[in-house]
Amino acid sequence: MPLVTFEGIDGCGKSTQIEMLKSYLEKKGIKFSIFREPGGTHIGEQIRQILLDKNNSDMSAKTEFLLYAASRAQLIEKAVRPKLNTGEFVILDRYIDSSVAYQGFGRELGKRIVILINEFATDLLYPDLTFYLEIDEKTFKERMRSSGDRMESEGWKFMERVIKGYEFLSKSKRFVTIDSRLKPDQIFKYIIKEIESHFSF
Ligand code: TYD
Repeated sequence: MPLVTFEGIDGCGKSTQIEMLKSYLEKKGIKFSIFREPGGTHIGEQIRQILLDKNNSDMSAKTEFLLYAASRAQLIEKAVRPKLNTGEFVILDRYIDSSVAYQGFGRELGKRIVILINEFATDLLYPDLTFYLEIDEKTFKERMRSSGDRMESEGWKFMERVIKGYEFLSKSKRFVTIDSRLKPDQIFKYIIKEIESHFSF
């Protein structure tokens, strides 16, 4: 069964779309699992706490990157691969692309090393389809909560680099870019159209 991921900068509306997809799959009687990153496993959720804790403002970019990769390695080996092997449809709320965009471009660690370490962490498990909800500066600023977590409190300059990262990634064939200013229903119709054209249930 397929592995589908959702990507985009904070406030892009991923969660709404994932909820809608969840209801769609339930109605169709398709077995599925949804995991969020960082997290999704017991160990991963502990790593998530460290990563998003605002008191950890002195975390080095390399530490941050390796913690995301560690959470991902655990998730893939212990949860995602077993689910895929039993034939479930797996949805990931963020995956490798988030690390390429946030750590590779945002933190300027470079895409090469980020991809390499992530391929090691996941044994080269790539998604079949990735929905990227694109957001512009104005919408981003409007949607941004004033007191978010450690990652959300990064400024616009950081987010601009992250967006550049997603622009680079969106050239890949598995990427489907959607304008997040569209109404949630319109976005969802588009997502379903893509899913139905890629996979037969
Ligand atoms: P979360 O509250 O789950 O945000 P969202 O709802 O936007 O997904 O927090 C995840 C944060 O971690 C988000 O700001 C993006 C960041 N992140 C990375 O920097 N690198 C990664 O590899 C992943 C998975 C997330």
